[in-house]
Amino acid sequence: MKAHVFCTLPDILASPLRCGTLGRAMDAGALEVLVHDLHELSPDPHHKADDTPYGGGPGMVLRVDVLAHAMESVFDADATVLKERFPVVLLTPQGKRFDQSQARELASHETLVFLCGRYEGVDERVREHLAGREVSLGDFVLAGGEIAAAAVLEAVARLLPGVLGNDESLLRESFSGPMLEYPQYTRPADWRGRRVPDVLVSGDHGRIRAWREEQARQRTLHRRPDLL
Ligand code: ADE
Repeated sequence: MKAHVFCTLPDILASPLRCGTLGRAMDAGALEVLVHDLHELSPDPHHKADDTPYGGGPGMVLRVDVLAHAMESVFDADATVLKERFPVVLLTPQGKRFDQSQARELASHETLVFLCGRYEGVDERVREHLAGREVSLGDFVLAGGEIAAAAVLEAVARLLPGVLGNDESLLRESFSGPMLEYPQYTRPADWRGRRVPDVLVSGDHGRIRAWREEQARQRTLHRRPDLL
């Protein structure tokens, strides 16, 4: 998979892309991420990417012409038709709440494009003509889309074939359903008198599986009944 990220602060993406799952996905050749700096690609003589809002008001707005020009210089095609070729995702708190089913859907594409807003917002014509969909991480406001793009990318990358080890994929297979994870423990078995549940050290795999299923069900019921 190839992912393109258009943003104004590419440095924010440097370590998420280098480390952990995203780094591993790139090393394994499962993922290539190209980060495009909107200042560098701006047609503006001063390399500006934003401007003041028409009608007045605080803050700056990301320019549609800058974004379109950047996309066109990368894809050599009209920026308004790219969303018909692959997902062009605008990261914004106004978007659809991101979830695992969207991660799965995005993971099925060969190419993804992420548009990161910054400042007070993006020109409305970006939404109308450049973005094919809008995604939000949740009901809170980040200072820009870069961290949101990294989060979405990591959720997608771990679903790509060859990125996770076998164990982890198997675990995901059985528990990516509608339930929260069961509680996990590791050494020490006794930490300041707080002991690991006996069943987990019993060696009885049938009982362990049943215990975990029940814990996952109880936990989901109490914390996220909407999932059941
Ligand atoms: N950009 C700013 N806030 C955001 C959010 N909550 N989700 C996605 N992108 C954002």
